[in-house]
Amino acid sequence: MIPDKVPQEDVYHAPQDLVKGAHVPNFEKYKELYLKSIQSPEEFWGDIAKDFFWKTKHTGKFLDYNFDVTKGNIYIQCMEGATTNICYNALDWNIHQRNLGDKVAFYWEGNEPGDELKVTYRELLHQVCKFANVLKSVGVRKGDRVSIYMPMVVELVVAMLACARIGAVHSIVFAGFSAESLFERIMDSQCSLLITADGFYRGDKLISLKLIADDALQRCRDKGVPVEKCIMLKHLSKEQPDSPAASPSPPAKRPCPDLQETPKDKVRKIRPKAQVPWNPEVDLCWHTLVDGASEECEPEWCASEDPLFILYTSGSTGKPKGVLHTVSGYMLYAATTFKLVFDYQPDDVYWCTADIGWITGHSYITYGPLTNGATSVLFEGLPTYPDMSRMWEIVDKYQVTKFYTAPTAIRLLMKYGSAPVQKFRRDSLKVLGTVGEPINPEAWQWYYSVVGEKKCPVVDTFWQTETGGHVLTPLPAATPMKPGSATFPFFGVVPAILNESGEELEGPSEGYLVFKQPWPGIMRTVYGNHQRFEATYFQKFPGYYVTGDGCRRDQDGYFWITGRIDDMLNVSGHLLSTAEVESALVEHPAVSEAAVVGRPHPVKGESLYCFVTLIDGVAYSTTLETELKQQVREKIGAIATPDYMQNAPGLPKTRSGKIMRRVLRKIARNERDLGDVSTLADSSVIDQLFNNRCPTAV
Ligand code: WTA
Repeated sequence: MIPDKVPQEDVYHAPQDLVKGAHVPNFEKYKELYLKSIQSPEEFWGDIAKDFFWKTKHTGKFLDYNFDVTKGNIYIQCMEGATTNICYNALDWNIHQRNLGDKVAFYWEGNEPGDELKVTYRELLHQVCKFANVLKSVGVRKGDRVSIYMPMVVELVVAMLACARIGAVHSIVFAGFSAESLFERIMDSQCSLLITADGFYRGDKLISLKLIADDALQRCRDKGVPVEKCIMLKHLSKEQPDSPAASPSPPAKRPCPDLQETPKDKVRKIRPKAQVPWNPEVDLCWHTLVDGASEECEPEWCASEDPLFILYTSGSTGKPKGVLHTVSGYMLYAATTFKLVFDYQPDDVYWCTADIGWITGHSYITYGPLTNGATSVLFEGLPTYPDMSRMWEIVDKYQVTKFYTAPTAIRLLMKYGSAPVQKFRRDSLKVLGTVGEPINPEAWQWYYSVVGEKKCPVVDTFWQTETGGHVLTPLPAATPMKPGSATFPFFGVVPAILNESGEELEGPSEGYLVFKQPWPGIMRTVYGNHQRFEATYFQKFPGYYVTGDGCRRDQDGYFWITGRIDDMLNVSGHLLSTAEVESALVEHPAVSEAAVVGRPHPVKGESLYCFVTLIDGVAYSTTLETELKQQVREKIGAIATPDYMQNAPGLPKTRSGKIMRRVLRKIARNERDLGDVSTLADSSVIDQLFNNRCPTAV
């Protein structure tokens, strides 16, 4: 599985000063620990678990599971009998056991340079306890689901930890999603409470979050399933005067009071305010509630397999799946991957640029760093705002040592050359990381040479919402790196490559990436639909968890992710299902059918190329195209906006009516060699499709 020897030439090694004192200092040590993690998981994870607080210790096997659908229901159970609380471990335990009360947990850096805050572990604990008491006061109980739809502010972390503290299950919805997407997620997880904010700025753009949240809540009411309460944080300060574009103030019945007292040290530019509709029947003000709440809140002791959170990810049927993670296994896995993959050291300042609305933010902004007692940067803004140097300015400002971002951000910044990077010193950096999609070797080289000055290993971390944490990844001091390869499995993870018939391939090979056994952080079910969990991940190859990604293993045993092999697209590191975008298009009255495929994009990785068939008598026009793009934005969110669109009076189908996406992908790329098209029902559509290609897709 793990090669005895790894190449020493044509690979990249960590500098000696990183190797000294590293948790896993060389490949031999990695191999030794890896073997232990597979052969004696009880001992391996048992040692790790000693650093955590357990109210009661586990009694059963460390991991108990069935991974084979032919033998019964799929289940994964970790540390049966143990009780703990992840919020207690992240805060109280660090404060009391490790004396980290005065350590900074987060440096918050707002969208505007100069807009900043810092919060220590003790302050965070107080805020979390207060808000946990607020949650209880509005009737939230253990096991209840709470939707969170917030910008990247400290209060988002407070809200999630407060849920975890009382055993409520958070379901965070990325603040870039539309009202329809939020509505769908609230309905699916049957949330009784929504937590949101008035709004926020992304660069120059105002997002009136409460307005969108209200739209979603109205949709829930229309379905006869009203959400009982909505707590709104006032994030945009009240000092800003109303601009003509802003809406009138909310009705005065029970307005959210002014925010004189918090946050004191924010400096904001004068900008239009968010529109803040207010429904006194439902809406509650975060600040009013928190003001009167106690700073003490006894944690709810949760069983290992109690649910911790739900996070939705795209599903190939178009309906998002509520990936469910549970308490103990997720905690151990997020904490351990964070510690070892970034070689976390107590004096580190760590920065992950992801949004907490995605799994990367859950595991590597909130839970992983906090359970390690780390200091992190929490950034609200954009890498390109106010200019292309923003990231490096922040790195210098906080002396960031470990930096984690996405290939799409690297490619975007690469376009502007090295000058914006070199305006700043970046000499604090020690480890660089990437996540979200395969990184092309050119971007890897730029990141390594220009950003890291050839001094920082680049950890290319492959994982998924479902895996909870990194599963294939280098360890910075131990693994010789090859640009573009996620290298080898993390501890406890056993990958395999299968061919179409489900046979395991040995040596250099390419096929389906699967995992043969669970690790503590793997998802446990799809919320409310265990059958879908089994069907999606376990049916195709019984006995294996199927990632949906293609993978190649080279002659040295390195793993290279080749991209999705299902109907999923990866746009700027975000997974989208083609079915989801297609159904948004088809909902337009002019559209009878739609097919969406990916087309390579220099910055986003993949872009969306949409073929639409109109109903008889409707003419294709640019106005219609704009309407359709708008429709997708409204249904899903800006991340799903189609890049290219074309009229497709006919689609290439097999005789049984299945759309041949393989052919459409070629047309989107303007590649004339279509391969075998003998199964096409009507080959005349091909010329027509080539003739109608979107002119901007050169
Ligand atoms: C892709 C994000 C190649 C992959 C953490 C996976 C990657 C999907 C990498 C999960 C990587 C993520 N190299 N591909 N280092 N990291 N992916 O659920 O296709 O948003 O299945 O989780 O992103 O996306 P998700």
